[in-house]
Amino acid sequence: MPHPSRETARELDRADPLAGMRGRFALPDGLVYLDANSLGALSTGVPAAVHRAVVENWGQHLIKIWTDDGWWDMPQRVGDRVGRLLGAASGQTVVGDSTSVHLFNVLTAAARLRSGRQLILTEEGGFPTNHYLAASVARTLGLEVRRIPMPKMAAAVRTLGERVAVVTAGVVDFRTGELWDVSAITKAAHDTGAIAVWDVCHAVGALQLTLDADSVDFAVGCSYKFLSGGPGAPGFVYAARRHHDDIDQPLCGWHGHAEPFEMAADYAPATGIGRLRVGSPNMLSMLALNAALDVYDDVDMTAIRQKSVALGEFFVESIDAHLAGLGFKLVTPREGCRRGSQITLHHPDAERIMRALNKRGIVGDLRPPSLLRFGYNSLYISYSDIFSVVEAMRLCA
Ligand SMILES: Cc1ncc(COP(=O)(O)O)c(C=O)c1O
Repeated sequence: MPHPSRETARELDRADPLAGMRGRFALPDGLVYLDANSLGALSTGVPAAVHRAVVENWGQHLIKIWTDDGWWDMPQRVGDRVGRLLGAASGQTVVGDSTSVHLFNVLTAAARLRSGRQLILTEEGGFPTNHYLAASVARTLGLEVRRIPMPKMAAAVRTLGERVAVVTAGVVDFRTGELWDVSAITKAAHDTGAIAVWDVCHAVGALQLTLDADSVDFAVGCSYKFLSGGPGAPGFVYAARRHHDDIDQPLCGWHGHAEPFEMAADYAPATGIGRLRVGSPNMLSMLALNAALDVYDDVDMTAIRQKSVALGEFFVESIDAHLAGLGFKLVTPREGCRRGSQITLHHPDAERIMRALNKRGIVGDLRPPSLLRFGYNSLYISYSDIFSVVEAMRLCA
């Protein structure tokens, strides 16, 4: 790549096949939005879809929305649209509750599939909710949680062998942006008979996932980051078809019942992915997500990932060229194949720098005390945006 400069950035933007996608998002003029890994930008199709759902569906059709408007099956239909981005064949993904709720359900269900085994292995440094939930599942089922550094996870599973019931981790480290080898760790889990549960929150919509091909057992994720589903948009759960008949989900509500409208006093799980539903989902949020997913009908995940890797490379080279000696340290791996769609920098004065960036119309994310996190969505971030943040950091440091 030529020397990273404003001019190089413009040239790269001119050659960018995804440049036109930015028009599908309602971003404020002049804002550089590098917080896609917290809350994605508003997709232009969402407001009209939500308006229609409120005024036409709810307002006019009332209770018939569930049957005549097909809302009852939306969790599975939207699930299949998300599933395509996960590398999942249809009928294995359902949308509805928060990531946390889905994670509690599948961690418990996974451990129940391996009853008699004692350990849940989680990633050291993983997202807090995942630790809290793993600990709660362990208390409920009388298991033990061990936190393992991700580079040692595959070896740890092999060493601990048949004591391991479940291995669970995020595909992309939420702090550092490091991308882990889903296939290798899942295989290590399977070699000892354990179940692999992945959190794809920081990967879905940002890179190609191949859950079916990797033989992943379960995965959970949220839709308000790279997928731009909106604040509090529903999470989703993937369960490999081979497990469906055996899943015993702890939060078993009427939406997951085989005959929900019979109002039976006893629980009988639905067949298929429908048994991972719980109760009434937030439909307005689900319809916002459904509209946001339209963008992915018109673009290939390979192209999104290619651009994300190239944006990351340009980011790293610009940091090397313009921030040397100013106290910044790259936390994210340098190799594109080991990164999600995120760059994290360490700086002793991170808080002041982020405030200064915000004043210049650049939004990133601060992880106190010293981490600056930048999540870039290939669909609306340009090389010029990346150069702007590096230039601004040089001026602020
Ligand atoms: C990696 C990861 N896992 C789990 C969660 C929890 O998601 P929720 O709050 O939607 O349950 C988050 C939230 O940001 C996350 O980043």
